[in-house]
Amino acid sequence: MRIGEAKIIELPKILDRRGNLSVIEEFKNIPFKIERTYWIYDVPGGEKRGGHAYKENQEFIVALSGSFDVILDDGKEKKTFSLNRSYYGLYVPKGLWRQMENFSTNSLALILASTPYNENDYIYDYDEFKNYKAL
Ligand code: TYD
Repeated sequence: MRIGEAKIIELPKILDRRGNLSVIEEFKNIPFKIERTYWIYDVPGGEKRGGHAYKENQEFIVALSGSFDVILDDGKEKKTFSLNRSYYGLYVPKGLWRQMENFSTNSLALILASTPYNENDYIYDYDEFKNYKAL
């Protein structure tokens, strides 16, 4: 997949004086079935997460709280997406190198994933990723 297939998706936002509400439904707001949900929190200042690609897994990443950047790379082009609101998220297609950084204090990253956890789906080596993309 190429960078152009990654995109920010706006979520429904139900405004209410009692507090706002946003929602994600599989195939309605995001283009895949949700097989797994995980979240990243208590990230020490200056730390980076990710730094790998998935062969099959697709993700949708939301900054439920605070802010951070997601850097995507398709082997040719790189793009940085800043996430800082809970009513939109970043759709990350399979086969992209991704890194997350610039986490603000108390930020909370929610990640919906299209596959169960499978360590064999990861590419951890950037040169291997470049070769994989060149196939
Ligand atoms: P990893 O995906 O490398 O985290 P990040 O992309 O944020 O740097 O995962 C870190 C560790 O957590 C690794 O040992 C595997 C484990 N893990 C699971 O057991 N299940 C999961 O669903 C995920 C995402 C990670």
